[in-house]
Parts: sequence; structure tokens; C-alpha cells
Amino acid sequence: MVAGTIGTMDYLAVEGLKGEARLSGEVFIEGAKNAVLPIMAGAVAVGGETTLTNVPMIADVHTMGALIEGLGGYVTTKGHQSSIRTKDANGTVLDPALAKRLRASVLLTGAVMARSGKVTFPHPGGCVLGSRPIDLFTDGFQKLGASVSYQNETTTVEAKNGLSGGEIFFKVVSVTATETFMIAGTRATGVVTLKNCAMEPEVVALASYLRNNGARISGDGTPTIIIEPSHFEPNPEPFAIPPDRIEAGSFIILGALLGKDVRVSNCVSEHVEALLEALRQMGVPLITTQNSVTVSRPESLRSLELRTHEYPGFPTDLQAPLAVLLTQADGESSLLETVFDGRLNYTQDLVRMGADIQVWNPHKATIKGPTPLKARNIDGPDIRAGLAFILAAAVADGTSKIGNAHLVDRGYERIEEKLQSLGLSISRQSSPH
Ligand code: EPU
Repeated sequence: MVAGTIGTMDYLAVEGLKGEARLSGEVFIEGAKNAVLPIMAGAVAVGGETTLTNVPMIADVHTMGALIEGLGGYVTTKGHQSSIRTKDANGTVLDPALAKRLRASVLLTGAVMARSGKVTFPHPGGCVLGSRPIDLFTDGFQKLGASVSYQNETTTVEAKNGLSGGEIFFKVVSVTATETFMIAGTRATGVVTLKNCAMEPEVVALASYLRNNGARISGDGTPTIIIEPSHFEPNPEPFAIPPDRIEAGSFIILGALLGKDVRVSNCVSEHVEALLEALRQMGVPLITTQNSVTVSRPESLRSLELRTHEYPGFPTDLQAPLAVLLTQADGESSLLETVFDGRLNYTQDLVRMGADIQVWNPHKATIKGPTPLKARNIDGPDIRAGLAFILAAAVADGTSKIGNAHLVDRGYERIEEKLQSLGLSISRQSSPH
């Protein structure tokens, strides 16, 4: 995208804060996108009716709901509560158009396999962060006795007598692969052991939800998860989605960039420890309680060597927002992106705004600061880089237009309303073309 133009109808116009002006106030964190999506998929395996509370009202939740309805389920949402009825969700084909919109659609393969022993799905879409293959899924299903076939870019997995027990060692730590096989394993005929699992809080939340409904799962939050054959008993008690640590982290970084006592509430501080540690190293003053973080911009920020890592390490989803903060730090910082191989592309646009960033290879960049940023019109390439551009625009001189607002909406509820409440001048507009 050429600087100065934006290619989509909906954009966010952000006016940079002037001089010594600061953002302040309190922002409440919603339920976690990456927890609610696997739990919605889990509800398909559980059957009956599931009620979820603290559900974030974001586009991905609606897409997941539509995918479940495509399988024969029924999803209703009121406020932050969703009811998911999956008694008749016996379909075995994921709607290709919807599945291509959302990488997390792949989670439904585990649920549909658990239920029907057969699933047909397209290569899942979602954010373009690099190659994002599905080999862990196809290999895993084969290890549990299923056959895998391909036709016209569509994959079909089938286990005529249901999945068998077995052991899967994930050669790469993967969040959704861990979750998919936790769901699929519940209805296997023998014990399923998963090794080299993701340990993210969202994995633990899914395990809690499945256990609440009768699943026999242990070891979640550690690298080895064991799933014993389970008999589901749908639990009528509502299940609360835990707070979104990436939304919380995004606002904490904003507070470090431009805040004066910005209080980020309704989060779990322990889930953002890696970020808090990075910010402490940068000299950012933080006051933390179990479920809130109050943050202010210090007089100067120190540079940092940042390396993304699976949980509990520094999350790749906060790498782009933190890079914006590093443009304002003194001296040279380095970024090592270890999870995805296409997650530094957004830095080109920060350079157009005036950042001094050198990308050495798809995984490594160095950032020299502090550099003043100039307003630009740019398209956000994915959810998190889109959010990072909003942060960059907030610190830039002038008014920026951030295109592809719909991508930010995939992961952040009422983003402009929350930012306005902190004092940022941001509005949603449509391009005349
Ligand atoms: N990978 C493979 N083969 C596979 C699957 C993954 O090689 O079959 C590789 C990926 O290419 C990547 C690594 O495994 O290099 C880790 O990716 P992972 O599978 O963990 O990512 P994901 O499960 O698709 C989830 C989040 C992402 C988050 C990553 C990493 C959900 C719904 N999505 O994706 O969230 O970036 O874990 O933490 O949980 C976001 O919220 O904006 C987002 C992109």
C-alpha cells in the first residue's frame, strides 16, 4: 500500500496527541477472543446447550457463530452472553467462505471429528502472518487413525469407526492444534496423549470448559496433556470467558506510550507478566493488582532486546504494538519474532511514518529511537498490526487514517469508544470512493 492512500471503505481517523498531552482514565477488558473461539468449537463436541458469559462482541465471534449454524447449531447472543445449541449440529462440512475468513475455524475440525468422525474443510484463512500450514492437524488426525484426502483445495479427514487413542508429539508448539486435539480426543476410543503442547491461558480455559461438561482432561497448562475417553454431560451453569490478555496488553502499551495513570481493569496481571517485565526494563512505572494494571509514560524510555515466545514468554500478538513503543525509546532495540515468519512486514509502514527500523530477515529487526512520527494514511494488514498503527497514529504529528478498520474489529470490541474514553481523538469514517 502506498503511503497516502487507503484501500477500504471503513477507516479510523486518529489525531495525534499534542505536546505534553496525556491519555488517562480506565479501560475495561473484554473476554478473550482466543479463549471464546475454541470454547465455542468445544460446545459443538459437547452437544446440548452451552451458555457463555463475558463474550467479547467482536467480528470473529460472529463468524464462529455462523460456522456453527452452518453445521446445524443455533447461536444467540445478547449483551455479552451467548447461548450455543448444538443438539442438531451434525454437519460435517465447514462453510468454505466463512472458514476462509477465520484461522480459528480449524478448531471446529476437532469438534466435528469428535461428533461425526468425518470433516471437510478448506485451508483456513485469517491473518496473513506467514505460511500458517495445517500439517500438525492432518498429521495428528492420522496418528489417531483417521485418513486424510485432498480435493480442490479442500481437505477431508475421516475415521469410519471414530478416532482411536494415541500419542501426538507436536513438532512445533501450536495453540490451535493443542486445542483441536483436546476437543477431538474427548471422543476417541482410547487415551490421547498430547506432547509439546501450548501452555497459553486460553488452552487452560478450554480444558476447564470441557471438564465442566464431563471431559476427563489433565495436564493443561503444562507441555503434556492427557485426555481420557469422556462422556459429556452438558452443564447448564454459564461459563465465563477469561479476560483477553492481548487486549489488556495493547492498552497497557498505549499507557506506556502516552498515558498518565491509565488503569487497565478486569484483566489478569499474571497473564501479561512477560509484557510487564519488558516494560519495567524500559523504565515504565506500573502499579499492578491481581486484576488491574495502572501505567504511565515515563520521562524517557530505555531500549530493549525483545524476543517473542510461546506463553509464558512474550506474546507474538503484542510484538507490533510494542515495536511502536520502541520507536520512542532511547537507543537501539532489537526484535526477534520466533513464532511467525511474516510478522515484521508492518514495519515498512512505521518507517514511512518516520521510524528508524531495519529489518535484517523475516525474523529480526532493529529499531533506533526516539524518532518523531508523522501522520500517514495506511492500511492495517492484520488485527494486531492494525492496532499498532492506531498507537503510532496516536503519538504522531497530525491526523492519520488507518484503513482496514474491519480487521481491528475482529479482535477489539468498540475500539474507538474505549480510546475516546481515554481522551484520544479517533473516529470511524467511510471513504467516499
Ligand atoms: N504451525 C505449523 N503447522 C501447523 C500449525 C501451526 O507449522 O499445522 C506453526 C505456525 O506456522 C507458527 C507456529 O506453528 O509458526 C505457531 O502457530 P500457532 O498454531 O500456535 O498459531 P495459531 O494457533 O494459528 C494462535 C492465535 C494467534 C496467535 C498464535 C500464537 C487463536 C485463535 N489464534 O494462532 O492469534 O498469534 O496462536 O500465539 O488462538 C490474534 O489473535 O491476532 C492471533 C493471530
